[in-house]
Amino acid sequence: MDKIIIHGGKRLTGEVRISGAKNAALPIMTASLLGAGVHTFHNIPNLVDVQTIKKLLSSMGAKVDTEGTTIRINADHIDHCEASYDLVKTMRASILVLGPLVARMGKARVSLPGGCAIGARPVNLHIKALQAMGAVVDLKEGYIEARAKRLKGTTIYFDIVTVTGTENIMMAACLARGTTFLKNAAQEPEVVNLAEVLNGMGARISGAGTDVIRIDGVDALSPAEATVIPDRIEAGTFMIAAGMTQGDVRILDCNPRHLDAVITKLRDSGMDVIPIENGVRVTGCETRKSVDIKTHPYPGFATDLQAQMMSYMAVAGGLSVITETVFENRFMHISELMRMGADIVIEGNRAIVKGVDHLRGAPVMATDLRASASLILAGLVAEGKTELSRVYHIDRGYEAIEQKFSALGADIRRIKA
Ligand code: EPZ
Repeated sequence: MDKIIIHGGKRLTGEVRISGAKNAALPIMTASLLGAGVHTFHNIPNLVDVQTIKKLLSSMGAKVDTEGTTIRINADHIDHCEASYDLVKTMRASILVLGPLVARMGKARVSLPGGCAIGARPVNLHIKALQAMGAVVDLKEGYIEARAKRLKGTTIYFDIVTVTGTENIMMAACLARGTTFLKNAAQEPEVVNLAEVLNGMGARISGAGTDVIRIDGVDALSPAEATVIPDRIEAGTFMIAAGMTQGDVRILDCNPRHLDAVITKLRDSGMDVIPIENGVRVTGCETRKSVDIKTHPYPGFATDLQAQMMSYMAVAGGLSVITETVFENRFMHISELMRMGADIVIEGNRAIVKGVDHLRGAPVMATDLRASASLILAGLVAEGKTELSRVYHIDRGYEAIEQKFSALGADIRRIKA
């Protein structure tokens, strides 16, 4: 397996361009199942998860062509309404084909995703909502088998804010008979991006970006042409890296309005985050101040930036309490950070991080996508050499990450297995 080697201590300077958002591209690509014809999507990032969803759509009969960051999906002939365990186990977001398949084809057989490193991550709320819309759903041999002649509009209340749950049911409701209200809906920018794409296909959605989304069902949808928003989690990762290394970086092709909670905390820690044309300029300060973080669904502090922020707080000048409220096991990076000299104590879903003068490079292991990013950030500021293994995790959600950091002056390289 590939490894990433970092020799820490370099200030990051220069500019970096942010890729399209993984968590917008995935649902937008599955939305192509809702309508026949050729769908064209721009600013699609080149990621392992995007390759997986392409494979999944092709396995169903869609034709997928890629030209740079533009993807064309022809969903005229969907003749296999199934997402196999082999594909779903590598990427939970495959569950996003469930809603579109039931809505357009009247049936779907999708493997239950199973758990992952950060938590059990059930999909009970997706299933419950489809059942409320009239689908018959059975769980057989680890698969969800769902069918419905035509879904019916209804009011769905999500007990827990769920991003892909909101996306799955919003897509399904587009072709339902009547009106659907999603209450306690996810408000992430990726949900808004998906709603814009669906409305461009002829759907009638209002309220996306708030906690109540209304969808008036229509009989058919037409092909889309749309652009994926910038990846706010990649942008946030580079902002934190720029601050941690006390650098001076212009982060381009990003939308700072998608990161208000994160930017507020970075400014509280002493960083300057200055809006510029098409992005932000981030300069780190001498005294990196400790701040407390509590993750929340959007517009709260993104759970997908919790691990990266913990690496930063590990070298800040005080005590930081980091509380993870979204996932039950998203502290896997802590033991690896402690091997690098971080001083962190876990108390339930809280981590007490006492900043140290410096971290020490070490061989460390990635456990999940965002934990991998946090270990790279730690390596950038650690004294000596850090060797990160299992980098396949990071390739799922970051495009050419070592090239981007190297272009900013980091001493980072990948060694092929
Ligand atoms: C999406 O995952 C993102 N993935 C995750 O990003 C992100 O961390 C998460 O939202 C939270 O923001 C994609 O968009 C592809 P949830 P999702 O449903 O939708 C519980 C990354 O690093 N829940 O919002 O799977 C669940 O267990 C990834 O890019 C149920 O209990 O997350 C969790 O505790 C990681 N039952 C909470 O809700 C359900 O049916 C939020 O999960 C669904 C969810």
